[in-house]
Amino acid sequence: MCEPLAIDVITIFPDMLGGFLNESMLKLAVERGAVRFGTINLRDFTYDVHRTTDDRPYGGGPGMVMRPEPLFEAVESVRTPESSVVLMTPQGRVFNQDVAHELSEKSHLVFVCGHYEGVDERVRQNLVTDEISIGDFVLTNGVLAAAVVIDAVVRLRPGVLGGAGATLEESFASGKLEYPHYTRPAEYRGMKVPDVLRSGDHAAIARWREEQSEIRTETRRPDLLGEGAGEDERSGPGNGNGSLGEDHGC
Ligand SMILES: C[S@@+](CC[C@H](N)C(=O)[O-])C[C@H]1O[C@@H](n2cnc3c(N)ncnc32)[C@H](O)[C@@H]1O
Repeated sequence: MCEPLAIDVITIFPDMLGGFLNESMLKLAVERGAVRFGTINLRDFTYDVHRTTDDRPYGGGPGMVMRPEPLFEAVESVRTPESSVVLMTPQGRVFNQDVAHELSEKSHLVFVCGHYEGVDERVRQNLVTDEISIGDFVLTNGVLAAAVVIDAVVRLRPGVLGGAGATLEESFASGKLEYPHYTRPAEYRGMKVPDVLRSGDHAAIARWREEQSEIRTETRRPDLLGEGAGEDERSGPGNGNGSLGEDHGC
């Protein structure tokens, strides 16, 4: 059994995370000892009566900037030499399944969630070890972005999802999109489930799924099949070579 992945989230909106961390897969992950969550209220690291975390930008301009002192002190309250301190920012490297696998192999993730115009540049330069964007759009706050990353990372930890291999056959696991799914009824409003899926012929089903996966990827995400796509230097899970596993080597 692995040590639980420790995840701390630093934010001025700790209540935004409560429900999210206490439902569904994330709740189970805690119960199964796969992960431990901590939510850190940035305002606990302020010293003025208004518990101020932001100030006007030097040089002028719109909006407010998060001050460095509370962010440094909040991170230092939980950081260890093994910690990865991840700043959520639209200017970071763009999150994807490979990054999710990479983070799932860490022992301690500290997410720093920005607000307003963002954080003082000294935080980016001297405090954080990683910067992640969840896409080319701008959110109001980093908490939702951190929540997206946490969900994608925690489900990859050993023992979180039910069956071994639950993350093996899904989109991006082998550099392609997953095949279509059907369930009962076998026919609904004239729409039929493909015969092969009801044939009981497992080899034929596997072939059909493989074909469908390729067709889907070619039509929807040809970029995944392009030159260099799926190449990944990582030696661990999710390296796109079919050797995915839920074993993180722990
Ligand atoms: C309004 S945004 C700041 C945007 C910043 N002024 C800029 O133009 O790059 C406030 C905070 O939301 C979070 N955020 C917004 N968009 C994000 C994204 N695409 N990925 C990750 N975090 C994001 C970051 O924590 C950011 O500090």
